[in-house]
Amino acid sequence: MNAICLEGNVIARPLTARIGAEIEGVDLTRPLDEPTLKGLRAAFLRHQVIFFRDQPISHEDHLRLGRAFGELAIHSGVAGLPDYPEVVAIHADADSKFVAGENWHSDLSCNAEPPLGSILTMKIVPDYGGDTCFSSMYAAYEALSEPMRQFLAGLTAIHDGEHVYRPIVGNNGKTFPCSEHPVVRTHPETGRKCLFVNQSYTTRIPQLSKLESDAVLNMLYRHCMAADFQVRFRWRPNSIAFWDNRCTQHQAIWDYFPRTRSGFRVTVAGDKPF
Ligand SMILES: [Fe+2]
Repeated sequence: MNAICLEGNVIARPLTARIGAEIEGVDLTRPLDEPTLKGLRAAFLRHQVIFFRDQPISHEDHLRLGRAFGELAIHSGVAGLPDYPEVVAIHADADSKFVAGENWHSDLSCNAEPPLGSILTMKIVPDYGGDTCFSSMYAAYEALSEPMRQFLAGLTAIHDGEHVYRPIVGNNGKTFPCSEHPVVRTHPETGRKCLFVNQSYTTRIPQLSKLESDAVLNMLYRHCMAADFQVRFRWRPNSIAFWDNRCTQHQAIWDYFPRTRSGFRVTVAGDKPF
C-alpha cells in the first residue's frame, strides 16, 4: 500500500498496512457530492476505520454523514439526545464511575443485526490520554492457523447485552438483546472473512462444553489484541473516527481521569451476520 491512497477524489493516508487511514480533502460540514461519497465508502471498506481532523460538525452534519452510509440505528442500551435521538453523548469527567467501551468490543454485537459502523466525534479532549485503539478482525482471522480456521468455521457464539448494560442502568425492568452469530463472519460488502467474537458481549460457543468454550474464546480474545492488528488514534477537538463495526473491534482507554473527554456518536444500522 502506498503512503497515499486515492479513492476517487478522496485522499487516504494509511496509518498501518492493516487498519486505519486519515482522510484529507473532505469538508464534512457541507453536503457531500456522489464522487466524494464513493471515495469515502471505498476508503472505509479498505481501511476499516477512517479518521478526520478539524471537522467542526453539527449534529445535522453528523446525521447526514451517517445517513450517506445507511439507515441510522437507535442505541438499544443508551438513550440519545432529547432533540436528536440518533445522537448519543459520549462523556467522561471527574464524576464518572466508569466509561463506555473500556474493554475490547464491537458495538452492540448482542443485537440480532449489529451496527454497520459508528461515527464518533470528540469536542472536548483531555491534554493527554483518552486514545481509542482499533483492531482489524480481518488481520486476526488471517493470522490464525489453517486447522484453527477449519475448527472455527461451523461454530456460532452467543452475544449478550445483559451483563454489559444491567450494571449501568440497574433493575429498571428493561431487557437487553441476546443473539447468536457465526464465530467467523463474512463481510457483506468486501466478501472477506473476519473473526466476530469479543470479550465484552460474547459469552459462549454453544457447540462446545463450558470449559472448551472458555478456553477457545479466551485464546481468541488474546489473539485479537495483538498490537500488529491495531491502530491507535490520538484525539484532538473536532477529530472524527468512523469504524466498520463488522470487521473491527475497539477499546476506549480511560487514562485521563479526572479530566473531561466529551463527544457524540451516531450509529449506522447493519445486517444479520453470516
Ligand atoms: Fe464502542
